[in-house]
Amino acid sequence: MTTALIGGTGLAALEGASRPAADSVETPYGPASAMPLAFESLPDAVFLNRHGDGHTLLPHEINYRANLWLLRELGVEAILAVLTVGSIAVRLKDGDFALPRQIVDYTWGREHTFSVGASLLHADFSEPFDPAFRRKVGAAFQRTGERFHDGGVYGCTQGPRFESAAEIDRMDRDGCTVVGMTAMPEAALARELELPYAGVCMVVNPAAGRGQAVIEVADMRAVVAGMRPRLLSVLREFLAGASAG
Ligand code: HPA
Repeated sequence: MTTALIGGTGLAALEGASRPAADSVETPYGPASAMPLAFESLPDAVFLNRHGDGHTLLPHEINYRANLWLLRELGVEAILAVLTVGSIAVRLKDGDFALPRQIVDYTWGREHTFSVGASLLHADFSEPFDPAFRRKVGAAFQRTGERFHDGGVYGCTQGPRFESAAEIDRMDRDGCTVVGMTAMPEAALARELELPYAGVCMVVNPAAGRGQAVIEVADMRAVVAGMRPRLLSVLREFLAGASAG
């Protein structure tokens, strides 16, 4: 099964992913964020940086439709998204991984569907993260011996600013356990294209009003850097398991 890894702040580049996997980044929806890259040693995987080369695209500027469309055109059969998040639930600490089960979407104004007019499509989204695919990702964590929080709710905000403390309190009341800016409409578009989608969340800060400090991107990046070796070993294990069948 060909899997696409979509990375962002938590995974902007991936060792070994260097060969362009497409002729062009153009799609009927405009250009994708970057050229998807294939690996020399892993025939069943491609990598796409959703923020573009040099991290030029903010979450609300990403052309999610083009990214998903291009990956599907390349024959990708499942999407594993790496998502950096702030923690809302107190049990989630910086440096933790989480595989959420649900999503609440607070974004607005993003191109969020392939469905227009006559092609009207009401995709079922009761389980935004594909349960079977999610389990396979969880199994890779277990084989690696890496701990992760199984379940929870990803609240997707519009950004690019971080939230107010009251917004985080509201999200907490809504049941959100983590907050990020990129899983939507990515997950919904994957569903419209019938591509199983799972998200590996990297907890990089306490959400607004939950920590002592002002949220600083530099601090988030430091946590990401510390988590990177663990993330890579899980991804390697996952891809090895995926190509074994
Ligand atoms: N809020 C929104 N998105 C994020 C955060 C946050 O606190 N941390 C990482 N991505």
